[in-house]
Amino acid sequence: MITRRRLLANGAVAATVAGMPVWARVIGVKAGAAPVATASTAAGGRVEHGLLLGVDYYPDQTPEKLWEEDARMIAEAGLTNVRVAEFAWSLMEPSEGKFEFGWLKKSVEILHQHEIEVILGTPSAAPPPWLSEKYPEILLVNKDGMTVQPGGRRFICPSNKTYRKLSLAIATEMGKEFADTPGVIGWQVDNEFTLQQWNRCYCKYCREGFQDWAKKKYGTLEAVNEKWGTAFWSQIYTEWRQIPVPLPSNGDPNPGLALDYDRYQSYANASSAEEQLGMLRKVCPRHFVTTNNVGAPLDTIDLRELFKNMDFVCHDNYPGFVQIFFGGGKMPADQVASVIALGHDSMRSVKDGMPFLIMEEQSGKAGQSFFGPQPHPGQLRLWAFQAVAHGAMGINYFRWDTAKFGAEEYWHGLLNHDRSKSPGFDEILRTVKEMKMLGKEGLESSYVAETALSFDLDSDWALGIQPGNRGLSYVAQTMAWYASVASANVGTDLVRLENDLSKYKAVFAPVQYVVNEKQAESVRNYVKNGGTFVTGFRLGVKDENSRVVDMPLPGLLRDVMGVTLKDYAPIYGDKVGVKFGAELPGADGECATWADLLRPTTAKVLATYTGAYEGDAAITANAFGKGKAVYVGADLDAISLARVLRTLLAMTGSKSEIAAPRGVEVTRRRTAGKEWVFLLNHTAEAQKVAVAGKFKSVLSGDVFDGSVTMKAFDVVVMNKA
Ligand code: GAL
Ligand code: ZN
Repeated sequence: MITRRRLLANGAVAATVAGMPVWARVIGVKAGAAPVATASTAAGGRVEHGLLLGVDYYPDQTPEKLWEEDARMIAEAGLTNVRVAEFAWSLMEPSEGKFEFGWLKKSVEILHQHEIEVILGTPSAAPPPWLSEKYPEILLVNKDGMTVQPGGRRFICPSNKTYRKLSLAIATEMGKEFADTPGVIGWQVDNEFTLQQWNRCYCKYCREGFQDWAKKKYGTLEAVNEKWGTAFWSQIYTEWRQIPVPLPSNGDPNPGLALDYDRYQSYANASSAEEQLGMLRKVCPRHFVTTNNVGAPLDTIDLRELFKNMDFVCHDNYPGFVQIFFGGGKMPADQVASVIALGHDSMRSVKDGMPFLIMEEQSGKAGQSFFGPQPHPGQLRLWAFQAVAHGAMGINYFRWDTAKFGAEEYWHGLLNHDRSKSPGFDEILRTVKEMKMLGKEGLESSYVAETALSFDLDSDWALGIQPGNRGLSYVAQTMAWYASVASANVGTDLVRLENDLSKYKAVFAPVQYVVNEKQAESVRNYVKNGGTFVTGFRLGVKDENSRVVDMPLPGLLRDVMGVTLKDYAPIYGDKVGVKFGAELPGADGECATWADLLRPTTAKVLATYTGAYEGDAAITANAFGKGKAVYVGADLDAISLARVLRTLLAMTGSKSEIAAPRGVEVTRRRTAGKEWVFLLNHTAEAQKVAVAGKFKSVLSGDVFDGSVTMKAFDVVVMNKA
C-alpha cells in the first residue's frame, strides 16, 4: 500500500499568435516583434527556434576540451537547447562572495556558436560545503527531529533566511552576468522544489515561520485555538511562540495544526522560489522563468502557488521511477503509462491547460544505487510522445552524457560512459525529428478534455495525517480513479472543485475528505446546471480546518448527493462485497478498505453491499437540478471501479470516437482549425485500432481508412484526412 509519506520516507491555450512560442507569448512579447529566442542560420539569416527540444547538459562535470565536440554533436542531433548549471554552485561561487562565471560563459558561447539556446538553472538545490560549514543553521531537520547532513542535495531549510539570502545572491549574480548573453533564453529556478517532500523541514526557523504564517492567517490566538480545537489535550496557546511543529510527541498531532503545517511548508518553498523569480524579472526581463518539479501524484507542494507567477510549468518525466516506486519493478506497462499520464495531466492543469515543458525526460537506462527496469526499444519515443499527447510543448532529455562520477553514475544519458552512443540515441534522434513535424502549431495546441478529476491537496494532506484505515491512501485512490476514467480516452483534466467545472461532461472526486464552502457551492451549481458529479467514499467529512463537520455526512453536499450516511466502516477482516443493480450491470465486486453505508433521501440505489453490511446501499445516484450526483460508497476493486466509472461516464454521452484496445491510449490536441489525434500503444504487442473515417499520419504520411495497425510501443499522430 502506497502512501506518499511512506513512499517518501523511503487553460486552454490562448489563440496561437503565429510564429511565436508559447513562452514568448506568455511573457508578453508582442506579435510581430522580434522573437526572444533567435539564432543565426548557417546561411546567415535569423530564424526563430521556438521548439524546445533539448538536453540537460553538465559542462561543470565535463573536461573543457570536450565542450566543442559536445555542442557540435548536440546540434547535429537536431536539439535546439540545453539546460545547464543547476547543480554548479560550488564552481560558480567557490567561496562566499567570490563569483566565477568565466567557465560557464565560455560554455554558453560555444553552445551559442552551434545555435543551441540555453536555459540556466539557479543552483540553490545544492549549497556548497563552505556554506553549510559556515552556516550549519541552514540544514533541514527531518520529521524525526534529526538534522539532515550535507553530502546529498535538498538538505536545506526552506525558511532559513541565511540560506534564502545566499541563494538569492548567487542567482542575482548569475542574472546580472547572463542577462544579455547571446543564446540565453530563460531560467529554471532551483531544482525540484517538490523533492522537498522527501523531508519536510521541522527546524526552529520553520517553526518561527509557521508561527508568523499562522498569525497572518488567523489574526488572533483565539481564532487559532478555536479553529484547531486546542481544548483537546490541553493545547490552548497563549503566545504565538508556543505553537509547535508536528514533531514526535507521544501522540498524534492536532489535525488542524498538521494540515496547516503542510500548507506552510508549501508556502515556504513557493515563497523562496518567488524571491528568485522576482529578482530575475527585474534583472533579466527578456528571459522566461520557470522551475521543474515532479507531477501528481507526487507533488506535495501546491503547484498553483509555486507556478503562479512563472511563465509556464515544467516537470521531470521518469517512467523508470514510477516503476520502482509504485510498481516494485513489476507494474504492467499500461499501468505505468497511466501513472505517467496522471502526472502530465496534473502539470497541464496547473495553468489551466497551458502547454508545459518536460525539463528532464528519461533517456535510457536509469538508476541511482540500483537500476530501474530497462526501457524496451520504442519506449523512449513512446514516453516522449505521450508527454506531447498530454500537452507538452517540448522535451529536454536527461542527460547528454552519462556521469562518470557522483551519485548518478547509473543514470544514462544520450552518450554512454565512454562517449559512445547509447542504445536509445538513434531512437531519440528520430523522436526529435518527428516532434518537429508537429510544428509549433501542434506542440502548442490545446489538449481536449471532456472529464475532470479532483486532485485536492487539502484532502490529500488531511487524509495523510489521519488515513482512517492504514490501507487507505489518497495517492492510491487517485491513481485508481484516474486509471478508470482516463481509460475512456475522452481526455481528463485535474481540477480543484472550486474551479469552473461547466465544460466537463463528468467530474470525478475520489476521497474528497475535505470540502470547503466554495467547493460545495461550485459542485452544487455544476450539477444543478446539468453536470454529472461522481464522488467516492469519505465525502465532506472535514472542513478546511480539518475539523469533522457537525452535520450529518456527507456534510455540505448531502442535498446534492441525496443521501445521508447510515454509518461508515473501515474494512479489515470482514468480507464485504458489492452487488450491482440493472443500471451498472456486471459481476459482483469486492470492497477493500472502506464502506460508507448510504441511506438515500432522494437518491436511488444502484448497488448494495453483501456480507457484513448485507442490503445497505453502496452506490446511489441522485437527480439534482438538471444533473446527476453519484455516490460510490465502497472502495471497489479495480475492475468493478473501472466498469462503474466508465458506465457512468457513458451515460453522460461522452464517448471516444476511437475504439482502442486496452493498453492503447488516445488523446487529442486542437487548434481552431485542426485536430491532432495521438494513438499510443503501451503494450508489447501489435494492436489494431478501429477509427471512424479517414486519417493521415503526420509522421509517415500514411493514410488510414477504418483502422490503424500499430507495432509494439508504437506511436501514431494523425489528422483527419
Ligand atoms: C531528477 C533530478 C535530476 C536527476 C534526475 C535523475 O529528479 O532533477 O537532477 O537527479 O532526477 O535521478
Ligand atoms: Zn526549516
